[in-house]
Amino acid sequence: MQATDSARVEDNGAALLAAARDVRERAHAPYSRFRVGAALRDEHGTIHAGCNVENAAYPVGTCAEAGAIAAMVASGGLRITEILVCGDGAGLVTPCGACRQRIREFAGPDTPIHAATPDGIARTFTLAELLPESFGPETLGE
Ligand code: THU
Repeated sequence: MQATDSARVEDNGAALLAAARDVRERAHAPYSRFRVGAALRDEHGTIHAGCNVENAAYPVGTCAEAGAIAAMVASGGLRITEILVCGDGAGLVTPCGACRQRIREFAGPDTPIHAATPDGIARTFTLAELLPESFGPETLGE
C-alpha cells in the first residue's frame, strides 16, 4: 500500500512501528472494528505497509500482512528481513495462521516478527517459533 525508503539502520523497529501505526489508521474494518497495520522491511531496505481491508462478504476480507506483502512484491522486493504487526487487542496481536504462511514464502526461519500495539513492540518472535516445521518453496524443490 505504501513504500518508504529508509536507511538500513538498527532502530529497534521504530520505523516499522511508525509505518504500521500510520497505515492502521486507514484500515477498512467496519465489521470487526479491529484495525490492524503491518509493516515490513525488504532486502533493499525499503519499508512496505498494509492494513486489513474487510468486505461485506466477510471471507473476502484481507489481512494487513497480505497488503504489505503485495506492496513489497509489486515494488520488486522478494525477501522480508523484518516484519511488524500492530493491533490493539486484549492479548498479543500476532499474525494469523494464514499470514504466517504468507510470510514464510518470503522469509527465513530467523526472520524477526514483532507483535506490537500502537504504544510499542510487545514481543518479538522468529518465524520458526511461530511456524515450526513449515512448508515452503524449498519443499517443492524451488
Ligand atoms: N487481521 C489481520 O489483519 N492480521 C492478522 O494477522 C490477524 C487478523 C484482521 C483480519 C480482520 O479484518 C480483523 O483483523 C479481525 O480478525
